[in-house]
Amino acid sequence: MTKRLLDVFAGNEVERPPFWFMRQAGRYLEEYRRVKSRADSFLELCYSPDLAVEVTLQPIRRFHPDAAILFADILLIPEALGQPLAYKEGEGPKLTPIRDSSAVAGLRLEGLQERLAPVYETVARLRQALPSDVALIGFAGAPWTVATYMVEGGGSPDHKYTKRWALGDPEGFGRLIDLLVEATVAYLAAQVRAGAEVLQLFETWAGALPNQAFEAWSVAPMRQIVTKLRQLDIQVPIIGFPRAAGAGYLSYVQNTGIDGVSFDSSLPLDWVRAELQPRVVVQGNLDPQQLVVGGPTMLAEATRILSTLAPGRHVFNLGHGIVPETPPGHVEALADLIRAWRY
Ligand code: CP3
Repeated sequence: MTKRLLDVFAGNEVERPPFWFMRQAGRYLEEYRRVKSRADSFLELCYSPDLAVEVTLQPIRRFHPDAAILFADILLIPEALGQPLAYKEGEGPKLTPIRDSSAVAGLRLEGLQERLAPVYETVARLRQALPSDVALIGFAGAPWTVATYMVEGGGSPDHKYTKRWALGDPEGFGRLIDLLVEATVAYLAAQVRAGAEVLQLFETWAGALPNQAFEAWSVAPMRQIVTKLRQLDIQVPIIGFPRAAGAGYLSYVQNTGIDGVSFDSSLPLDWVRAELQPRVVVQGNLDPQQLVVGGPTMLAEATRILSTLAPGRHVFNLGHGIVPETPPGHVEALADLIRAWRY
């Protein structure tokens, strides 16, 4: 059986767009909450292949999307580089902040692959377990976004320490970004060798950067990652997600070498169709809050997305991840609509 997601990237004809949902595994599913309560912590869940495989498969059983995304987190890279990390219930991730070059010098690439080996084991087991028409997506955070968590010490409203460092000391900050490029390439190449068939890089905080800095700290590192992966003979499709980059999406698509772009809910569909879709496969862009609303409003908006984007170059997805308040029944209704859609 062929995989619809891979067909779209190969340019083969498809009768409807493939779909999957960012954060399709997670707290909005009761079966996820049950498995998570068996692990000591969220990190242990990510590093236990048995549990990580199970939570990756949960949304596949319920909604039958065209792809599974590896269950892990973008902050495993800082942790594997030696930066202490904990996820506090209700507070999100907490890291010991890195604010200057001497702290960067304390991070180590050595040992990275050993620490991340359980993730590769999860990927390998998933490739065995998944139905033959479901593609497996591996992922990582993009360097700028991962750096914001490393520098701020967790999530933050304004990323002020990271921005001040990037704008005020580009050479020192560049050392952190270069390290993240190396680590990310090694991590993603190993995921593909273990069985990942598509890669996605999450640049969740692209919109926080002024334009010139976006070029320097988001577009340029992403181009390096794509180039280095290709040099390692990694041939799988690569999707970038520069969330809230606005007009910066065009440069991102033109200057990084990506095969697909995941786009947030703020972009006008006509603009995406005219400017992005001729260049790459586009993936998006239903607002996650539409999935909380559900009903005819959600279905009408999904129909508008399906009918506006050109046939064959679209992967249906959300503009950002599913939120914990989402009723699973709404996700099921959306999945049914897309599955029945015909170009
Ligand atoms: O189904 C999937 O999407 C696969 C797994 C996945 C997770 N995180 C699991 C997770 C993926 C692809 C991510 C990516 C991720 N992680 C991003 C980029 C995408 C985005 O949402 O913008 C970012 C910024 C992170 C960092 C992160 N991880 C934060 C800020 C938090 C806490 C806040 C939150 O949303 O819960 C996490 C924890 C996390 N990662 C959870 C899950 C399911 C929740 C943990 C829990 O069960 O309590």
